[in-house]
Amino acid sequence: MIRLPIFLFFAGLIGLTVGAECPLGWTFNPVSSECYLISTRLFTFDESVQYCNSIGGKSVSIGSYSEKDAIVAFTNSTLLQPWIGSRRNTTTTKFYNLNGSYFYTLMWTTNEPSVNGDCVTFKGATPSGLQVTQCYQLQPAFCKQTPALCNSAVIGGSTTWSGTFQSPGYPTQYYNNLDCRYLIIAPNNTYITIEFYPYVVEEWYDYVDLYEGNSTSFADHIAEVSSTGWARGYESEGNVMNVRFKTNYAITDKGWLATWKAKKDMPVISQSGTNGTMVSPNYPNNYDSNDEQKYQISVGFGAQVNLTIDDFRTESRFDYLNIYNSSTQSNSTLVATLSGASVAPFNYISPKSYMSMKFVSDGSLQYKGWHAYWSIC
Ligand SMILES: *[C@@H]1O[C@H](CO)[C@@H](O)[C@H](O)[C@H]1NC(C)=O
Ligand SMILES: *[C@@H]1O[C@H](CO)[C@@H](O)[C@H](O)[C@H]1NC(C)=O
Ligand SMILES: *[C@@H]1O[C@H](CO)[C@@H](O)[C@H](O)[C@H]1NC(C)=O
Ligand SMILES: *[C@@H]1O[C@H](CO)[C@@H](O)[C@H](O)[C@H]1NC(C)=O
Ligand SMILES: *[C@@H]1O[C@H](CO)[C@@H](O)[C@H](O)[C@H]1NC(C)=O
Ligand SMILES: *[C@@H]1O[C@H](CO)[C@@H](O)[C@H](O)[C@H]1NC(C)=O
Ligand SMILES: *[C@@H]1O[C@H](CO)[C@@H](O)[C@H](O)[C@H]1NC(C)=O
Ligand SMILES: *[C@@H]1O[C@H](CO)[C@@H](O)[C@H](O)[C@H]1NC(C)=O
Ligand SMILES: *[C@@H]1O[C@H](CO)[C@@H](O)[C@H](O)[C@H]1NC(C)=O
Repeated sequence: MIRLPIFLFFAGLIGLTVGAECPLGWTFNPVSSECYLISTRLFTFDESVQYCNSIGGKSVSIGSYSEKDAIVAFTNSTLLQPWIGSRRNTTTTKFYNLNGSYFYTLMWTTNEPSVNGDCVTFKGATPSGLQVTQCYQLQPAFCKQTPALCNSAVIGGSTTWSGTFQSPGYPTQYYNNLDCRYLIIAPNNTYITIEFYPYVVEEWYDYVDLYEGNSTSFADHIAEVSSTGWARGYESEGNVMNVRFKTNYAITDKGWLATWKAKKDMPVISQSGTNGTMVSPNYPNNYDSNDEQKYQISVGFGAQVNLTIDDFRTESRFDYLNIYNSSTQSNSTLVATLSGASVAPFNYISPKSYMSMKFVSDGSLQYKGWHAYWSIC
């Protein structure tokens, strides 16, 4: 069940131009995820190889049966059979692909390979397949190139703190045979959090892998994105993460949307004992942009924390201090979100012997922040 027709149908409706993946004059094939071109000029075999190179492509070598099907659909109405990048080695008499890949002997058309030549053309009309042709004959060149669909995409940069990106064709349909790399680069001294939602791919066969740094080696593997459950949020240790999306030859789905954020490396500030003081970063000077500082207070069993904020000034709504009635920070332990110019004085007594706080600032407008002191009661 390859849902291609659906893709092609919707593509027009939502303004996704299927041809936009390829340079002008080339045709994108969503089955092989390659761009193809058949020349109108005619060439000998050797000239056709040169021609393809000169326009940024390669002669077509057929890499799989699904690619053969794609090529059939592409050539079934052409009158002249185009060259395929395969020829006979006259020493061994065996055929090989110019690009060194495996030559599929089952792709010959009926009664082939004959002895009538050492080069190969492709017959699109039934019975379709490879056909031996004299290398000096004049036939169209058949070129392909891998589109810049998703490869080498660098996302972010040294001053970018967040962003989104998606699988090619999202939200309609991604393509088969993809090997996409997205390199996320965040500012220095940050780590990256990333969330995939929605994430709809062909289970087991199409998947996203995450790696630490500019790597795809096993040692740097962070996780394979899970298609089920809640575990779709992941984290790097450093400020560079490689995201790799691989799909197989059949069945595609709507794909995924990734949202990433750079987070500063800010160790948690923890205090215990009988009293203490806590302040926003740099206080009484202005805090920085994109801060996310966590604080923990725990006191002796049976005691409670009596926290007083006596100075407070942040950018209203966007820079804020969260107070939690637990050491765990979540919506269900959040007791107050403080922001703006009219917070102090503020007092809070924890129900248990521990509590925590989180200070968050955005990318614009910094103020002096806040000052708090606490004691047990
Ligand atoms: C040769 O082309 C085939 C078909 O596209 C491809 O799968 C294979 O990776 C290529 N091999 C090399 C060595 O470029
Ligand atoms: C060529 O392939 C296209 C797409 O698969 C198909 O619609 C068309 O009927 C085929 N034409 C011939 C002559 O086989
Ligand atoms: C043909 O095959 C022989 C034997 O394997 C090899 O030495 C030679 O390089 C091949 N020729 C070409 C043009 O690949
Ligand atoms: C970030 O770190 C790299 C490597 O340590 C360094 O070359 C670069 O200058 C730093 N960039 C900034 C903006 O500090
Ligand atoms: C990532 O690694 C690849 C392969 O090692 C290299 O070609 C590329 O330039 C690197 N990209 C960056 C942004 O460092
Ligand atoms: C505050 O804590 C310090 C030790 O961190 C202690 O010496 C001092 O007595 C405490 N003050 C009060 C009023 O409990
Ligand atoms: C909490 O601390 C404030 C400020 O020091 C003080 O006024 C208040 O009485 C304390 N509350 C309790 C229950 O100890
Ligand atoms: C937590 O609360 C925020 C703000 O109300 C909301 O946007 C977010 O979806 C909530 N998260 C969860 C996991 O419920
Ligand atoms: C902590 O705060 C949450 C949310 O305000 C509240 O539902 C919960 O009962 C509180 N827990 C305690 C121990 O007070």
